[in-house]
Amino acid sequence: MKQLFSPIRVGRYPLSNRLVMAPMTRSRAELDGTPHVSAATYYAQRADVGLIVTEGTQPSDDGQGYLTTPGIYTDAHVAGWQAVSTAVHAKGGHLFIQLMHAGRMSHPDNTHHHRQGVAPSAIAPGVPMFTAKGMQPIPEPRALTTEEIRQTVADFRFAARRAIEAGADGVEIHGANAYLVQQFFAPSANTRNDQYGGSIENRARFAIEVATAIAEEIGADRTGIRLSPGAKLWGIDEGPQGPALYRHLVAELDKLGLAYVHVMHQGDEPLLADIRRLWKGTLILNRPGRAREQIGADVVSGLAELEAYGQMVLANPDFVARLKTDAPMNDADHHTFFGGAARGYTDYPALSPAEV
Ligand SMILES: Cc1cc2nc3c(=O)[nH]c(=O)nc-3n(C[C@H](O)[C@H](O)[C@H](O)COP(=O)(O)O)c2cc1C
Repeated sequence: MKQLFSPIRVGRYPLSNRLVMAPMTRSRAELDGTPHVSAATYYAQRADVGLIVTEGTQPSDDGQGYLTTPGIYTDAHVAGWQAVSTAVHAKGGHLFIQLMHAGRMSHPDNTHHHRQGVAPSAIAPGVPMFTAKGMQPIPEPRALTTEEIRQTVADFRFAARRAIEAGADGVEIHGANAYLVQQFFAPSANTRNDQYGGSIENRARFAIEVATAIAEEIGADRTGIRLSPGAKLWGIDEGPQGPALYRHLVAELDKLGLAYVHVMHQGDEPLLADIRRLWKGTLILNRPGRAREQIGADVVSGLAELEAYGQMVLANPDFVARLKTDAPMNDADHHTFFGGAARGYTDYPALSPAEV
């Protein structure tokens, strides 16, 4: 455990410990994508982790998929995030804003522009999605033209610049969980025959171009990426070449010298070992549903430099203090994950000073 609480440098930042708040969508932003004022309180409460990765945040209008998720491209977004960064820094914490383009995981009823979603190919994910009118099937998306893909890379670059203007310490590219970046990886979502489809090199190209553009814009040492190799979510199937695609991708990312790779891991242990070998930099590992007794095991074994936790941090604003003192954890309330106000957001109790 001691190792978990020891400082570590990630990219250009000295972090106070090796615990990371995993990115979690909370759907409480204003309709124009400006973070709600209470986001500053929510994140500052959790600033005792070494690094906060924020909720998925759209880099452009077309990047939005769900209701009331925040953006980071307008002046209002920057002002909203500025309040969050200031509050987190005042507590000695660090935050990377997760840049999430939903791609085909989008419903026109959820966005202010109501446009059809965009994706590598015009293939619907075949699953329903929550909208203001309840659950609805996700309509078929429109395939991006090659020129539009270049513009989407530029949108990510612009959003990264704006995140830094908002005082964030860096950005994490959301390359996991069936959103746009992973849609490019998967033949089930990508049947393109230009340089972004077909071979594993072509399917990995979009992710590498986004990472390269952001690293150029704000510095590789302020750029991270999240991956979920093999995750079969919402119609995503990377096929038999999936592991080979990740080996190629991670080797290419290694050349860029990014601040970190963040793996949400659910299965293929040999592939995880390959990623660890091919990626020489800092690795953050998130194992969904990990039991409390296992916390710290991956740092101790040397598999990862940092460990990310989602629901435990959501429910325990003083997660690190509770770990240090072996105090019981609050349980996360699933009913208040998405949308709503303070309940289940900023009102989870912290330990009293006497208990710390
Ligand atoms: C409410 C909620 C929202 C989430 N939103 C995101 C997100 O925006 N981006 C992302 O990469 N992962 C998201 N995740 C996945 C978490 O980052 C994490 O991988 C997952 O919860 C498993 O870790 P845990 O068992 O420690 O919670 C979300 C999870 C939850 C519970």
